[in-house]
Amino acid sequence: MSRIFVTGGSGRLGRSVVASLAQAGHEVVSVDRDAIPAEQLPTGAVQHTADLLAPGEAERLLRETNPDAVIHLAAIAVPFSAPEEVIFSTNTRLAYAVISAATDAGIPKIITASSPTALGYGSPAGWLPPSFPLDEQTPPKPWNAYALSKLIAEQTVQMFAAAQGDKIRYAAFRPCFVISPEEWQGAPTQQGHTVRERLADPALSAPALFNYVDARDVADFLDVLLEKMDAIPNGQVFFVGAKDALATAPLAELFPRFLPGSGLLTEHLSGTSPAFSIGKARDLLGWEPKRSWRTELTPPYESADSAASEQALLNDENHAGLVPAGATKETP
Ligand SMILES: NC(=O)c1ccc[n+]([C@@H]2O[C@H](COP(=O)([O-])OP(=O)(O)OC[C@H]3O[C@@H](n4cnc5c(N)ncnc54)[C@H](O)[C@@H]3O)[C@@H](O)[C@H]2O)c1
Repeated sequence: MSRIFVTGGSGRLGRSVVASLAQAGHEVVSVDRDAIPAEQLPTGAVQHTADLLAPGEAERLLRETNPDAVIHLAAIAVPFSAPEEVIFSTNTRLAYAVISAATDAGIPKIITASSPTALGYGSPAGWLPPSFPLDEQTPPKPWNAYALSKLIAEQTVQMFAAAQGDKIRYAAFRPCFVISPEEWQGAPTQQGHTVRERLADPALSAPALFNYVDARDVADFLDVLLEKMDAIPNGQVFFVGAKDALATAPLAELFPRFLPGSGLLTEHLSGTSPAFSIGKARDLLGWEPKRSWRTELTPPYESADSAASEQALLNDENHAGLVPAGATKETP
C-alpha cells in the first residue's frame, strides 16, 4: 500500500484513477481546482482543492501529504478548447511545476499523462505514419498546442530522469480516448456524443483513429506501472489502449475512407485489431486491459454490421475472450 498523490483527480480520468487506486488499497490524495462532491469521494481518498499553477502550491501540498508517488493528470485535456497559447502554457507549466516539485521533494515515483495526439494524426496538412500499428517508436509530429504540450510533458519527465539517474523513477503514458464508467451507461463522452453514437457513425471515432480505453483499465495500468517502475528503464513512455478498435467494422475497411493514402499501410488491420499497439505495456509490465466496448455496453450494441463484427472477432487472434456486439452470451 502506498500514498499516491493524483493531480486532476476530479476529472474524467482522474475520478476513476482515484477510485480504483483507493479500491486497490492505496491511500489517495486527490488534488484539483474543482472538488469531487464529498459523498462521491471513495473511502481511502482525501482531496485538496488548489490551483497547481499558483506559486508554491505543488510544493506545499507535497510537503504536507508526503506521498510515495505522484500521478500528474491535471491539464486542459481537450485540443482547441481554449486559445492555443493558453493550452500550451497551462499544460507545459503544470507538468513542469508538478514534476519539478515532486523531484525536489524526493518523491521516488513520478508519472505524467501524455496523449496519443502527440503523434500528429488529424493534421489538416495531412498525416501518415511510417507503419501501423502505431507504437512508441512511431515518430511524434504534433500539429497543435495540446499535442505539443503533451510531447513536452513526456520530455519533461525524460529531462528529470536524465538529471536524476535512477534515484527517482519517471514515466509518461498516452491514454487512448478515455471512456469512464458512466459513459458506457450513456453519459456524453469528452467529445459531447455518446459511445453508441460514436460506434454508429465512424466519422466520429475516425479523428482519434478509432482508439479508446476504459478509464478503469488506465487506473489498473497505473497501479501496475507504479509497482514495476523500479524494474524497468527510467523515463519510459507507454500507449494505454483497449485491445480492439472502437468500430463495428475492421479498420482495414474504415481507414481508406477516413485517412487518405492509408490503404496499403492498414490493410493488415483486420478483425478487431486497433490502430495502436499496447505491446510495450504488455511486454515490459505484463499489463493488459480487461474491458472492451463489447463487454461494457449494456445492453450490447446492435448495428447493421453486427454480423460483420462477429465475423471479424472470429478472425482476430487477440480477442478470443470478448463478446461480440449483439451476441447472446452473458454480459459481464
Ligand atoms: N480523456 C481522454 O480521452 C484523454 C486522452 C489522452 C490524454 N488525456 C490526458 O489525461 C489527463 C486527464 O484527462 P481528463 O480527460 O480526465 O481531463 P479533465 O479535463 O476531465 O480533467 C482534468 C482536471 O485537471 C484539473 N486542473 C486543470 N488545471 C488545473 C490546475 N491549474 N490546478 C489544479 N487542477 C487543475 C481540472 O479541474 C480537471 O478536473 C490530461 O492530462 C489529459 O491531457 C486524456
